[in-house]
Amino acid sequence: MNHFLDIHKTDPADLRAIIDGAKAVKEARNGHPKAAPDQTLPLKDRMVALIFEKPSTRTRTSFDVGVRQMGGQTMVLSGSDMQLGHGETIADTARVMSRYVDMIMIRTFDEAVLEEMAEYASVPVINGLTDRTHPCQIMADVLTFEEHRGPIAGKKVVWAGDGNNVCASFLHAAGQFGFDLTFTGPVQLDPEMEFVGWARNKGATITVERDPVKAVEGADLVVTDTWVSMHDAQSAKERRHNMLRPYQVNKNLMEHAKPDALFMHCLPAHREEEVTSEVMDGPNSVVWDEAENRLHAQKAIMQWCLAG
Ligand code: CP
Ligand code: NVA
Repeated sequence: MNHFLDIHKTDPADLRAIIDGAKAVKEARNGHPKAAPDQTLPLKDRMVALIFEKPSTRTRTSFDVGVRQMGGQTMVLSGSDMQLGHGETIADTARVMSRYVDMIMIRTFDEAVLEEMAEYASVPVINGLTDRTHPCQIMADVLTFEEHRGPIAGKKVVWAGDGNNVCASFLHAAGQFGFDLTFTGPVQLDPEMEFVGWARNKGATITVERDPVKAVEGADLVVTDTWVSMHDAQSAKERRHNMLRPYQVNKNLMEHAKPDALFMHCLPAHREEEVTSEVMDGPNSVVWDEAENRLHAQKAIMQWCLAG
């Protein structure tokens, strides 16, 4: 079995196999995520626990649907309703849950929780987002890019805004899939240098450009995310908005990217804040494909986890 903890902790050949697997999973349903039944049921008689310590729409729904489409069953658990929210250790929780279920997906705050869960679980553990990374999202994003534009290797991706957990997984993907990533945002919200350094060591060109217009020149893909993440203090909202407003992705900014540059956002979006509706609903936006591809990518991730 394999854990899927982070893009930089997964072998590049495995990441490529997962993307190819996701393409096959999607094709097997003839592009109908809901209508066509899966021909094979790789999760038949398997039980998957989906643990959420933070809210979720896409991750919760796409994992739940994906497991069921593959013949398995799910239990969706809220961290605060479990004993782990009331003092039981992560290690003990992992040992116990491993006796009941075949796989655990967890969305949590501290990545130490995820790591401890993986260390003590005897079943695969999947990262459904932490304060630091969101690897399942970026696997769906790579799949989405490649469906629309072919191989992502050598392309220019621009991250506009907060250098947050989703940005971190994009940095990891730049290193593993071989694309260039330019970060444009305020210095106070730069991505973690540890991750920038990691991607550079893997040979990726990682650029920091404070001027968003210069940053998007030649971009094949422009990506943004909320200005206030679930782990950020609400009291910091106004300060963050003031810092991030110059990095809004709007029509004017997109006009400086390549004419066929795609726009992505992991969602949920805050329209007219980090992105205008004109861009989000415009011809270059692939945000709905991106959301759908969570389903296909995660089905491939779960199969890879169980295959070992
Ligand atoms: N993109 C994403 O992970 O969305 P949810 O928070 O709704 O799961
Ligand atoms: N950066 C966002 C992503 C939500 C899917 C957050 O962590 O809240």
